[in-house]
Amino acid sequence: MYHQISAETFNIYRFLVPNSDRNIGYVLECKNTKKCLIFDPLNKDIIDKILDDNDLKPEYILNTHAHPDHIKYNSYYLEKFKVKLLAHDMCKDLFEHEFDNIFENDVIKIGDLKLKVLHTPGHCPEHISIIADNYLFCGDTIFNCGVGNVHFRGNITMLFRTIHHKIKHLSNELIILPGHDYLQNNLSFLSNLINDSDPIIEELKEIESQCLDNDLSPLKTISFEKKYNPFFRIDELSFLDILADPKVFETLTMEDRFIKLRSLRDKW
Ligand SMILES: [Fe+2]
Repeated sequence: MYHQISAETFNIYRFLVPNSDRNIGYVLECKNTKKCLIFDPLNKDIIDKILDDNDLKPEYILNTHAHPDHIKYNSYYLEKFKVKLLAHDMCKDLFEHEFDNIFENDVIKIGDLKLKVLHTPGHCPEHISIIADNYLFCGDTIFNCGVGNVHFRGNITMLFRTIHHKIKHLSNELIILPGHDYLQNNLSFLSNLINDSDPIIEELKEIESQCLDNDLSPLKTISFEKKYNPFFRIDELSFLDILADPKVFETLTMEDRFIKLRSLRDKW
Protein backbone atom coordinates (compact mmCIF):
# COMPACT_ATOMS: atom_id res chain seq x y z
CA MET A 1 0.00 0.00 0.00
CA TYR A 2 2.90 2.36 0.75
CA HIS A 3 6.69 2.40 0.52
CA GLN A 4 9.16 3.59 3.11
CA ILE A 5 12.45 5.36 2.39
CA SER A 6 14.66 5.14 5.47
CA ALA A 7 17.43 7.66 6.10
CA GLU A 8 19.47 8.24 9.24
CA THR A 9 17.28 10.94 10.76
CA PHE A 10 14.03 10.63 8.82
CA ASN A 11 11.63 8.33 7.04
CA ILE A 12 9.69 9.19 3.92
CA TYR A 13 6.47 7.26 3.32
CA ARG A 14 5.26 7.42 -0.27
CA PHE A 15 2.36 5.87 -2.11
CA LEU A 16 0.59 5.84 -5.44
CA VAL A 17 -2.94 7.24 -5.14
CA PRO A 18 -5.28 4.80 -6.91
CA ASN A 19 -6.55 7.25 -9.54
CA SER A 20 -5.99 7.78 -13.25
CA ASP A 21 -3.73 10.80 -12.60
CA ARG A 22 -1.25 8.63 -10.69
CA ASN A 23 -0.81 11.20 -7.90
CA ILE A 24 1.91 10.33 -5.39
CA GLY A 25 1.39 11.03 -1.68
CA TYR A 26 4.19 11.66 0.85
CA VAL A 27 4.57 11.83 4.60
CA LEU A 28 7.94 12.91 6.05
CA GLU A 29 8.81 11.75 9.58
CA CYS A 30 11.52 12.96 11.98
CA LYS A 31 12.74 9.66 13.46
CA ASN A 32 13.83 11.18 16.80
CA THR A 33 10.53 12.84 17.63
CA LYS A 34 7.96 10.94 15.46
CA LYS A 35 6.72 14.37 14.32
CA CYS A 36 5.72 14.44 10.67
CA LEU A 37 4.70 16.63 7.77
CA ILE A 38 1.94 15.58 5.37
CA PHE A 39 2.40 16.72 1.77
CA ASP A 40 -0.54 17.59 -0.50
CA PRO A 41 -3.20 15.36 1.15
CA LEU A 42 -5.34 13.76 -1.57
CA ASN A 43 -6.06 10.29 -0.16
CA LYS A 44 -6.86 10.18 3.55
CA ASP A 45 -7.21 6.39 3.87
CA ILE A 46 -3.58 5.67 3.01
CA ILE A 47 -2.27 8.70 4.94
CA ASP A 48 -4.29 7.69 8.02
CA LYS A 49 -2.85 4.17 7.77
CA ILE A 50 0.71 5.54 7.54
CA LEU A 51 0.10 7.74 10.60
CA ASP A 52 -1.47 4.86 12.59
CA ASP A 53 1.00 2.14 11.58
CA ASN A 54 4.00 4.28 12.46
CA ASP A 55 2.59 6.18 15.44
CA LEU A 56 3.27 9.57 13.82
CA LYS A 57 2.34 12.99 15.19
CA PRO A 58 1.48 15.45 12.41
CA GLU A 59 3.06 18.86 12.89
CA TYR A 60 2.18 20.49 9.57
CA ILE A 61 0.29 20.00 6.33
CA LEU A 62 2.17 21.47 3.37
CA ASN A 63 0.76 22.26 -0.07
CA THR A 64 3.28 22.46 -2.89
CA HIS A 65 0.56 24.34 -4.77
CA ALA A 66 -3.17 24.98 -4.68
CA HIS A 67 -4.51 22.71 -7.42
CA PRO A 68 -7.52 20.69 -6.21
CA ASP A 69 -5.70 17.32 -6.29
CA HIS A 70 -3.09 18.68 -3.85
CA ILE A 71 -5.34 20.27 -1.22
CA LYS A 72 -8.39 17.98 -1.03
CA TYR A 73 -8.00 16.83 2.59
CA ASN A 74 -6.47 20.02 4.03
CA SER A 75 -9.55 20.78 6.10
CA TYR A 76 -9.87 17.17 7.31
CA TYR A 77 -6.33 17.12 8.72
CA LEU A 78 -6.42 20.70 10.02
CA GLU A 79 -9.53 19.81 11.98
CA LYS A 80 -8.40 16.33 13.05
CA PHE A 81 -4.94 17.25 14.37
CA LYS A 82 -5.25 21.03 14.94
CA VAL A 83 -2.02 21.49 12.97
CA LYS A 84 -0.85 24.37 10.79
CA LEU A 85 -1.04 24.53 7.02
CA LEU A 86 2.03 25.76 5.14
CA ALA A 87 1.83 27.16 1.61
CA HIS A 88 3.31 29.95 -0.47
CA ASP A 89 2.10 33.47 0.30
CA MET A 90 0.36 33.63 -3.12
CA CYS A 91 -2.19 31.08 -1.86
CA LYS A 92 -3.88 33.88 0.12
CA ASP A 93 -6.07 34.62 -2.89
CA LEU A 94 -6.88 30.93 -3.36
CA PHE A 95 -7.60 29.50 0.11
CA GLU A 96 -10.56 30.12 2.34
CA HIS A 97 -8.85 28.62 5.38
CA GLU A 98 -5.93 30.14 7.26
CA PHE A 99 -2.35 29.13 6.56
CA ASP A 100 1.21 30.12 7.41
CA ASN A 101 2.83 31.69 4.37
CA ILE A 102 6.26 30.47 3.33
CA PHE A 103 8.76 31.94 0.90
CA GLU A 104 11.92 31.07 -1.01
CA ASN A 105 14.78 30.14 1.39
CA ASP A 106 12.54 29.73 4.44
CA VAL A 107 13.49 26.86 6.73
CA ILE A 108 10.75 24.61 8.10
CA LYS A 109 11.43 22.61 11.25
CA ILE A 110 9.79 19.23 11.77
CA GLY A 111 11.10 17.89 15.08
CA ASP A 112 14.87 17.84 14.55
CA LEU A 113 14.64 18.10 10.75
CA LYS A 114 15.22 21.27 8.79
CA LEU A 115 13.66 21.63 5.36
CA LYS A 116 14.50 24.29 2.80
CA VAL A 117 11.86 26.04 0.69
CA LEU A 118 12.37 26.79 -3.00
CA HIS A 119 9.92 28.88 -4.99
CA THR A 120 9.46 26.99 -8.27
CA PRO A 121 6.78 28.83 -10.28
CA GLY A 122 5.62 27.82 -13.75
CA HIS A 123 3.11 25.00 -13.34
CA CYS A 124 1.34 27.69 -11.30
CA PRO A 125 2.64 30.91 -9.66
CA GLU A 126 2.50 29.75 -6.03
CA HIS A 127 4.37 26.48 -6.57
CA ILE A 128 7.03 25.59 -4.01
CA SER A 129 9.43 22.66 -3.74
CA ILE A 130 11.04 21.38 -0.57
CA ILE A 131 14.56 20.07 -0.03
CA ALA A 132 15.00 17.57 2.79
CA ASP A 133 18.60 16.36 2.93
CA ASN A 134 19.16 14.68 -0.46
CA TYR A 135 15.48 14.56 -1.45
CA LEU A 136 13.53 17.12 -3.46
CA PHE A 137 9.75 17.19 -3.04
CA CYS A 138 8.99 18.93 -6.32
CA GLY A 139 5.19 18.66 -6.64
CA ASP A 140 4.13 19.21 -10.25
CA THR A 141 7.22 21.18 -11.28
CA ILE A 142 9.23 18.18 -12.51
CA PHE A 143 8.09 14.66 -13.26
CA ASN A 144 10.50 11.90 -14.15
CA CYS A 145 11.37 12.63 -17.81
CA GLY A 146 8.90 15.50 -17.94
CA VAL A 147 7.66 18.75 -16.41
CA GLY A 148 4.26 19.97 -15.26
CA ASN A 149 1.73 21.41 -17.68
CA VAL A 150 0.78 25.09 -17.66
CA HIS A 151 -2.95 24.71 -18.29
CA PHE A 152 -4.24 25.92 -14.92
CA ARG A 153 -2.83 29.34 -13.98
CA GLY A 154 0.56 28.28 -15.36
CA ASN A 155 3.21 30.27 -17.21
CA ILE A 156 5.62 28.54 -19.59
CA THR A 157 8.33 31.24 -19.38
CA MET A 158 8.35 30.91 -15.58
CA LEU A 159 8.56 27.14 -15.88
CA PHE A 160 11.47 27.38 -18.31
CA ARG A 161 13.31 29.70 -15.89
CA THR A 162 12.56 27.47 -12.91
CA ILE A 163 13.99 24.40 -14.66
CA HIS A 164 16.96 26.00 -16.41
CA HIS A 165 17.93 28.71 -13.91
CA LYS A 166 17.13 26.94 -10.64
CA ILE A 167 16.45 23.18 -10.68
CA LYS A 168 19.32 22.36 -13.04
CA HIS A 169 21.74 24.03 -10.63
CA LEU A 170 20.76 21.86 -7.67
CA SER A 171 22.92 18.89 -6.67
CA ASN A 172 22.97 16.08 -9.22
CA GLU A 173 22.55 13.62 -6.35
CA LEU A 174 19.17 14.98 -5.22
CA ILE A 175 16.48 12.32 -5.51
CA ILE A 176 13.31 13.78 -6.92
CA LEU A 177 9.91 13.08 -5.39
CA PRO A 178 7.30 14.36 -7.86
CA GLY A 179 3.57 14.81 -7.34
CA HIS A 180 2.60 12.33 -10.08
CA ASP A 181 4.16 9.18 -11.51
CA TYR A 182 4.17 9.79 -15.27
CA LEU A 183 7.47 8.08 -16.04
CA GLN A 184 6.05 5.41 -18.34
CA ASN A 185 4.05 7.91 -20.44
CA ASN A 186 6.95 10.35 -20.56
CA LEU A 187 9.29 7.58 -21.77
CA SER A 188 6.87 6.73 -24.57
CA PHE A 189 6.75 10.41 -25.61
CA LEU A 190 10.53 10.62 -25.52
CA SER A 191 10.98 7.41 -27.54
CA ASN A 192 8.67 8.88 -30.15
CA LEU A 193 10.80 12.02 -30.34
CA ILE A 194 14.14 10.25 -30.79
CA ASN A 195 15.70 8.77 -33.90
CA ASP A 196 14.93 5.02 -33.88
CA SER A 197 18.54 4.09 -34.56
CA ASP A 198 19.99 6.02 -31.59
CA PRO A 199 21.39 3.78 -28.81
CA ILE A 200 19.46 5.74 -26.16
CA ILE A 201 16.28 3.97 -27.40
CA GLU A 202 17.51 0.71 -25.84
CA GLU A 203 18.25 2.51 -22.56
CA LEU A 204 14.71 3.93 -22.54
CA LYS A 205 13.28 0.43 -23.06
CA GLU A 206 15.34 -0.83 -20.12
CA ILE A 207 14.06 2.01 -17.88
CA GLU A 208 10.49 1.38 -19.02
CA SER A 209 10.80 -2.32 -18.17
CA GLN A 210 11.28 -1.28 -14.51
CA CYS A 211 7.95 0.63 -14.44
CA LEU A 212 4.77 -0.94 -13.10
CA ASP A 213 1.19 -0.01 -13.98
CA ASN A 214 -0.11 -0.39 -10.44
CA ASP A 215 2.84 0.72 -8.33
CA LEU A 216 5.42 3.48 -8.13
CA SER A 217 8.27 3.79 -10.61
CA PRO A 218 11.84 3.57 -9.24
CA LEU A 219 13.34 6.71 -7.68
CA LYS A 220 15.49 8.91 -9.93
CA THR A 221 17.98 11.74 -9.34
CA ILE A 222 18.53 15.17 -10.91
CA SER A 223 21.43 13.54 -12.73
CA PHE A 224 19.00 11.05 -14.34
CA GLU A 225 16.79 13.96 -15.44
CA LYS A 226 19.78 15.72 -16.99
CA LYS A 227 20.29 12.66 -19.16
CA TYR A 228 16.75 11.51 -19.95
CA ASN A 229 14.41 14.47 -19.39
CA PRO A 230 13.99 16.28 -22.74
CA PHE A 231 12.92 19.49 -20.97
CA PHE A 232 16.27 19.53 -19.17
CA ARG A 233 18.26 18.80 -22.34
CA ILE A 234 16.50 20.93 -24.92
CA ASP A 235 19.28 23.56 -24.80
CA GLU A 236 22.02 21.07 -25.76
CA LEU A 237 23.27 20.63 -29.32
CA SER A 238 23.98 16.98 -28.46
CA PHE A 239 20.31 16.49 -27.69
CA LEU A 240 19.17 17.88 -31.03
CA ASP A 241 21.50 15.31 -32.66
CA ILE A 242 19.48 12.38 -31.35
CA LEU A 243 16.05 13.68 -32.34
CA ALA A 244 14.11 12.13 -35.23
CA ASP A 245 13.30 15.63 -36.50
CA PRO A 246 15.78 18.21 -35.09
CA LYS A 247 14.58 20.83 -37.64
CA VAL A 248 11.53 21.41 -35.44
CA PHE A 249 13.83 22.92 -32.78
CA GLU A 250 17.14 23.99 -34.28
CA THR A 251 16.27 27.54 -35.38
CA LEU A 252 14.46 28.36 -32.13
CA THR A 253 15.78 30.11 -29.01
CA MET A 254 16.25 27.95 -25.90
CA GLU A 255 13.04 29.22 -24.37
CA ASP A 256 11.09 28.67 -27.58
CA ARG A 257 12.44 25.11 -27.81
CA PHE A 258 11.10 24.50 -24.31
CA ILE A 259 7.72 26.00 -25.29
CA LYS A 260 7.61 23.88 -28.46
CA LEU A 261 8.44 20.72 -26.52
CA ARG A 262 5.70 21.43 -23.97
CA SER A 263 3.18 21.94 -26.76
CA LEU A 264 4.25 18.67 -28.48
CA ARG A 265 3.84 16.83 -25.15
CA ASP A 266 0.39 18.45 -24.67
CA LYS A 267 -0.78 17.26 -28.09
CA TRP A 268 0.80 13.79 -27.81
FE1 LIG B 1 -0.89 20.58 -10.23
